[in-house]
Amino acid sequence: SNSPLPPPVVTISQYACQRRSTLNNRNKIFTDALEILAENFEFNENESAYVAFARATSLLKSLPYTISKMAALDGLPCFGDQTRAIIEEILEDGVSSKVDDLLCDEKYKARKLFTSVFGVGLKTADKWYGQGFRTLEAVKASKDLKFTKMQKAGFLYYEDINNAVTRPEAEAVAQIIETIVHNYAPDAIVTLTGGFRRGKETGHDVDFLISCPETMDENFLRKIVNKLDFRGLLLYYDMVEATFEKRKLSSQKYDAMDHFQKCFLILKLNKALVKNRVLSMSSVSAARPTDEGAEPEVKTQIKDWKAIRVDLVIVPTQQFAYALLGWTGSRQFERDLRRYTNHEKSMILDNHGLYDRKKKIFLNAKTEEEIFAHLDLEYIEPWERNA
Ligand code: CTP
Ligand code: MN
Ligand code: MN
Ligand code: MN
Repeated sequence: SNSPLPPPVVTISQYACQRRSTLNNRNKIFTDALEILAENFEFNENESAYVAFARATSLLKSLPYTISKMAALDGLPCFGDQTRAIIEEILEDGVSSKVDDLLCDEKYKARKLFTSVFGVGLKTADKWYGQGFRTLEAVKASKDLKFTKMQKAGFLYYEDINNAVTRPEAEAVAQIIETIVHNYAPDAIVTLTGGFRRGKETGHDVDFLISCPETMDENFLRKIVNKLDFRGLLLYYDMVEATFEKRKLSSQKYDAMDHFQKCFLILKLNKALVKNRVLSMSSVSAARPTDEGAEPEVKTQIKDWKAIRVDLVIVPTQQFAYALLGWTGSRQFERDLRRYTNHEKSMILDNHGLYDRKKKIFLNAKTEEEIFAHLDLEYIEPWERNA
């Protein structure tokens, strides 16, 4: 008698900042493929194709279900002919031939390999590729190539750096940084940000914001780095001074860099420190010997440390909420947050603040919640920003 109700219309936003994207990605089979293709468009500086693939990938990560037929894409934003074709192929064959071809492509393979070295960007990778290099061994053995200080460190610690940082390692680093920071400034706050704040169990580095009163000694970061060095924990550092180009927020273009003083480091993390932390946190007895009589004592020196990439950012207290929002990521979440702010709110957001173009005022915020409220956005938790 009663006709069935039509299914409720759920509109999914084209903006990642209006979606909740947890680490529980139900469409990994598609997003893995699309991400590889997106990266190659980025390599080729095909901006429009890159953006299309990055947005489609991000949308799939937010879906609470797995795409199982093409009709499931009906009504969803962010899909065009190219991204649909990839999904269709994976639905039919389980794999994308475009991805398979790319993974065998000489130039793509070289670019991936060379840019996996800390300090090597696309320009350098393409230069080496153009000169005929195909392996890191050949690059390292070359007598003609000149390497930057950063690249030398990149080669020296290549294996460690390309081995993902685990959460216990990140926490061990956090404790070291906190101890040193609090020794100089008891009221400074050290906050773990980046992927680990989004709940990831591994990362390529460990990101920290250090929030300080505006009156903080300008040598504060230098003192922290010196202390790390004094303690034998510093393998590499690159200090970037704050730039006070008084907020050219009016420029429309999203600038990935912010103006905070920061330091990109490679730290020498004692493995025993990590192990002890894990054991002391678990319920099993920390005293349990793990290698009792297992193997004869190894005579060769075992490397008892791991090189870890760390980013330290000095943030004045009044800008902390904006810096935290900016450094928590993900990259796609940040891009869409800025795009939404610009196109839907006529405001401009960066890691320092939020500017209302109509009212011509900067909007203050003490917390991320206040920033979302300024933007008329529902609050998205850090672990829901894995867009
Ligand atoms: N970021 C930024 N300005 C920079 C560098 C990074 O605003 N100069 C932001 C990026 O938007 C990114 C976040 O800080 O989302 C963390 O950067 P990064 O460590 O590169 O990425 P993660 O998301 O932490 O990923 P991973 O686990 O690989 O480290
Ligand atoms: Mn990170
Ligand atoms: Mn990264
Ligand atoms: Mn980082």
